[in-house]
Amino acid sequence: MRSPASTGLSRQKLAIAMVGLPARGKTYLARKLSRYLSWSGQSPAVFNVGQYRRVRLGAGQRASFFDPADGEGSAARAQVAEEALVDACEWLRGEGTVAIYDATNTTRERRATIASRFEGEGHQVIFVESICNDPAIVEANVRATKLESPDYEGEDPEEAVRDFRARLSLYERAYEPIDEDALRYIKIIDLGRDVVLHRIEGYLPSRLVYFLLNVHAQPRTIWLTRHGQSTSNLHHRIGGDASITRLGAQYAERLRGFYDEQARAHGEIAVWTSTLRRTIETARELPTTKVAWRALDEIDAGVCDGMTYDEVRVSMASEAEARARDKFRYRYPRGESYQDLIERLEPVILELERLRTPLFVVSHQAVARVLYGYLMELAPEASPFHDIPLHTVIELQSGPTATTERRHALGPRVDVPHKFMSSP
Ligand code: F6P
Repeated sequence: MRSPASTGLSRQKLAIAMVGLPARGKTYLARKLSRYLSWSGQSPAVFNVGQYRRVRLGAGQRASFFDPADGEGSAARAQVAEEALVDACEWLRGEGTVAIYDATNTTRERRATIASRFEGEGHQVIFVESICNDPAIVEANVRATKLESPDYEGEDPEEAVRDFRARLSLYERAYEPIDEDALRYIKIIDLGRDVVLHRIEGYLPSRLVYFLLNVHAQPRTIWLTRHGQSTSNLHHRIGGDASITRLGAQYAERLRGFYDEQARAHGEIAVWTSTLRRTIETARELPTTKVAWRALDEIDAGVCDGMTYDEVRVSMASEAEARARDKFRYRYPRGESYQDLIERLEPVILELERLRTPLFVVSHQAVARVLYGYLMELAPEASPFHDIPLHTVIELQSGPTATTERRHALGPRVDVPHKFMSSP
């Protein structure tokens, strides 16, 4: 997951313009794309025209404001769309590598303007159109997201739905689904049931397609945990392939009880482990088939594998200092950095996106930090610092607009004696 500059690939920046009627999951997709891109080493930003409208004109515009026949409303909407476009171009002129322009962009005329503006500045433009033919998906989307929107704050839900439907039918009248031969586009129908690609080529665009093929909007729960305490944890040793201790085994037992409780509520829950002994032993009693991923193995500490943090500090002081200076980018000699780990975890992340069933991931401190950071939509650079204690299950519930977290400290309690370079 390196940036184009570091891989020697095209340096052309990318503008992604969303297309589609309201309540087709465009903002959700834009948010997901943005997070995936930032975890892929890009600098993306989303320019959401609805948000510009609310900031400039205030929330709570009624349906009539969206009527193309309403001159004043149309001019005001064109103005905020333009402001967002100017900012998106500005972003790409500076540090940004990807701009996601999140608006309906439902007319050919509008798309031609967007394409010529971005292409005029030397950027590649890809349109991502979301089409939903399934009324149940649209209805669920309206209820899950629009009723929460500041546009309808404090309003009677039925009145809000009625107004929103009126807004929708105004857009429907003017909607021209994308079919322009000159444009590059990805058409996603019914949240990935069908996908149409037109003139999509190149490294980053192909990866976007792969990502878009896997994402869905179904809420589900993921539980993250580290393995039970291992003998290496006990002696503050880095890495290795140790077994779990007596306390670690107690945690494994409690985890089994926790799993059973959750399985009663959710049905069968998939379980992933790493290929290392301590995660396999921790998950052994969970009553389901487990998948052991090598990609979930702990960060590779290279020449420091098996050493204690104190030994590293004494015998490899310059390494310890370099790590303390930039823990995210620091790469152990012949080992990995957190940044490398993110790259290694990409297939796991794609599979996490694709899965619709609840999932338990039994892994390791550094790996769980990266997965937690991704799922909670935190900056990749913050990964090395997330608090992921032993003997604790972190429950993450994804929703249409955010992911919520609950921590279950199952115990038994273990000692956390020092903070040098890491916590054990
Ligand atoms: O200490 C346990 C452990 O899983 C080590 O094997 C691993 O190197 C470390 O945690 C990762 O944490 P940190 O990056 O803070 O050293």
